[in-house]
Amino acid sequence: MSAIHDTAAALLRLLPPESAHRAALWALSHGLGPRQARTDDPILASTVWQRSFPNPIGIAAGFDKNARAIAGLLHLGVGFVEVGGVTPRAQPGNPTPRLFRLPGDRAVINRMGFNNDGLDAIQPRLQRAMASAGRVVGINLAANADTADPADDFALLVERLAPHADFLTVDISCPNTANGRIFLSPGPLGDLLARLMAVRSAATPARTPPTPMFAKLSPDIDDSALAAVVATLSAAAIDGIVVCNTTTARPEDLRDHHRGQRGGLSGRPLFTPSTELLRRVYRLTQGTIPLIGVGGVASGADAYAKIRAGASLVQLYTALVYAGPSLIGRLKRDLAARLRADGFGNLAAAVGADHRPG
Ligand SMILES: Cc1cc2nc3c(=O)[nH]c(=O)nc-3n(C[C@H](O)[C@H](O)[C@H](O)COP(=O)(O)O)c2cc1C
Repeated sequence: MSAIHDTAAALLRLLPPESAHRAALWALSHGLGPRQARTDDPILASTVWQRSFPNPIGIAAGFDKNARAIAGLLHLGVGFVEVGGVTPRAQPGNPTPRLFRLPGDRAVINRMGFNNDGLDAIQPRLQRAMASAGRVVGINLAANADTADPADDFALLVERLAPHADFLTVDISCPNTANGRIFLSPGPLGDLLARLMAVRSAATPARTPPTPMFAKLSPDIDDSALAAVVATLSAAAIDGIVVCNTTTARPEDLRDHHRGQRGGLSGRPLFTPSTELLRRVYRLTQGTIPLIGVGGVASGADAYAKIRAGASLVQLYTALVYAGPSLIGRLKRDLAARLRADGFGNLAAAVGADHRPG
């Protein structure tokens, strides 16, 4: 079954990237994707934010921007899904072409620019899917490109979506829109988060704990800015930090002729810088804030490295483009074997293990 779907994924790679992505999403949203057994090796289970995750592997934001394929994505065997980024109003995103494969580098460059159907279309889809999801589903929030005030956009999104999502991620790190990164300085970021936390509490008075709110970081941040941003996130009592988004950096050893395309680079070249950033954030927060590790994960070894560096959960996107959906099952089996081989009784015991002596 998985072999058929991996072959389908290989055939999709013959199409232009955005057409292939649309076709994959269509198949997943029409029940044509693979269906993995819903039972996971118990060593992979964990509880974070009082929610149970049967395994720590999730689909990263941007794969299902319009919340159309939540059930199909969960059938791949992931422990959770993050849909979006959603903006208050629908927007077309940047002109095409805006998505490029770099196969020799196992990477992708995108400058999609938050193309999405907008809050009014996406909210009911999310609500419907959540009713039967049975696993954690979060949503990634972004401001409209032409908004008068990005903070107002985020506040509206939190107010409308906090009652319906298992978590909200505030994307303060998008390289592809004019206002994608304005909250990277501590003053505006602190003000924004204080406002969003208040909106969230007001929107979900009966939820305990309130819907967890995360911030997603950029890998293109220097050490002193990082320390200031992380201090601001801690002071705001953020519930989780997603490390990290795509990078505008272009490593010297990229080979593909698309390497000069403008946009955010993801996939294998992002693995080391994103894991090092994760390690720094874990150190700065002293393990007090759960981290979601994302960037270049393509194997059980990669997921395990993120967990040891400090991630409680892991997400991926680009590797699915190259390896197809059977990657999820392989990755989980390999991760479970690695945890056992190193003597961990459960996943939580391995989180941040690199930071502890012995
Ligand atoms: C085509 C594409 C669209 C993306 N859209 C979003 C988005 O809307 N919001 C967001 O926070 N991250 C977005 N991302 C970033 C991913 O969530 C992830 O952080 C990044 O791709 C690194 O993971 P990977 O190397 O496993 O792909 C997007 C990535 C890609 C490739």
